[in-house]
Amino acid sequence: MVLLSCCPVITILLAFFYQPLATAVTYNVVNLGAKPDGKTDSTKSFLSAWDAACASANPTTIYVPPGRYLLHKAKFYGEQCKNTAITIRIDGTLVAPSDYRAIGNGGSWLIFEKVSGVSIFGGTLDGQGTVRCFHIAIDGCHNVKVQGVMVSASGNSPNTDGIHIQLSSGVTISNSRIATGDDCVSIGPGSTNLWIENVACGPGHGISIGSLGWELQEPGVQNVTVKTVTFTGTQNGVRIKTWGRPSNGFVRGIVFQNLFMVNVQNPIIIDQNYCPHNNNCPGQNSGVIISDVTYQDIHGTSATAVAVKFDCSKKYGCKGIRLEDVNLTFGDQPAEASCVNVGGSTSGSVEPTKAEAEGTSLKRNIVRSSEPHGLQKFEKWYSMLERCFLRSSGRC
Ligand SMILES: *[C@@H]1O[C@H](CO)[C@@H](O)[C@H](O)[C@H]1NC(C)=O
Ligand SMILES: *[C@@H]1O[C@H](CO)[C@@H](O)[C@H](O)[C@H]1NC(C)=O
Repeated sequence: MVLLSCCPVITILLAFFYQPLATAVTYNVVNLGAKPDGKTDSTKSFLSAWDAACASANPTTIYVPPGRYLLHKAKFYGEQCKNTAITIRIDGTLVAPSDYRAIGNGGSWLIFEKVSGVSIFGGTLDGQGTVRCFHIAIDGCHNVKVQGVMVSASGNSPNTDGIHIQLSSGVTISNSRIATGDDCVSIGPGSTNLWIENVACGPGHGISIGSLGWELQEPGVQNVTVKTVTFTGTQNGVRIKTWGRPSNGFVRGIVFQNLFMVNVQNPIIIDQNYCPHNNNCPGQNSGVIISDVTYQDIHGTSATAVAVKFDCSKKYGCKGIRLEDVNLTFGDQPAEASCVNVGGSTSGSVEPTKAEAEGTSLKRNIVRSSEPHGLQKFEKWYSMLERCFLRSSGRC
């Protein structure tokens, strides 16, 4: 599908979940021939270290000492891997070739595919602005941990996601900084049980679930937590994006919590009418069903008047959208919200009857904060949403 076909992927971090115990083995890439000079192609040494680690059933560490290592296209493939405890510890910087053609069209830079139990700790990934799709791609993987990684690409390099995850479960990304030209983290179809915590994102396009729903038959996204993330000057904060075309995909059980927005264009956004260039989708409805999404404790500034935008599928709407302790400002005014086809069920003691839209099967779903000062915030927020619901003329 579209997501993958274009992409030189720089996939970088995968590591194990357990500290290696007694029999741990370490492969230092320099001992295998890698040169920390930023100029010599070290791809082979990294791949030999990977092959050696995979061949062993014991916990294994691949160590990358300080220095700059030029890596061309490299795929870390795990289907035949005997090892489920591989740690890649990076004290150095991995550098992409300065000419993107060295990565190859439609290829990837560093790809982790079908691996289980890999942890990547530390390291800087320098895409040199030549990585065209993903700096790190995690595809078909289970129990992957990425921690303390820094991804840097210039904010104007197009289509360079920081970390892309798809068809994977049990992926944790923490304590990392991601600066890219596209999504800091993008979450594709078939992603479950993800945990993203303590990440600084920006510049870039924010954290995105999607694009989803390009395929008619598509695995969904479920149980994703995004917690304690700062978005600085990004295009979006947290986004859910689906193609406006039929699909049996879904997004459910999502928590966005404790986020701080600094001058973000769309801090909170659900876009179910994604149809760039009106190709293969105009006039159609997204089949992706979005439900049970919580936005909690989200503060900061919006770079545009509309800080919250829910544009849900006309066919299915979004259900179970909860907002709790959200306070976003635009300049010195409260920001606005815009919503189409949003709803769910009401819980908590707030009864904002006025906002009940008529003639719709969907009901608003807003949960009031239980925090002492939350009510005030909530009321302000609520009045914003109320306008929003009313404006969407009975669709909520
Ligand atoms: C949701 O994902 C987290 C990991 O991110 C996991 O610990 C938890 O057990 C999952 N919940 C369910 C119900 O699977
Ligand atoms: C929202 O945040 C602004 C800026 O930090 C603050 O001045 C305002 O009092 C907050 N509103 C509520 C209801 O907490």
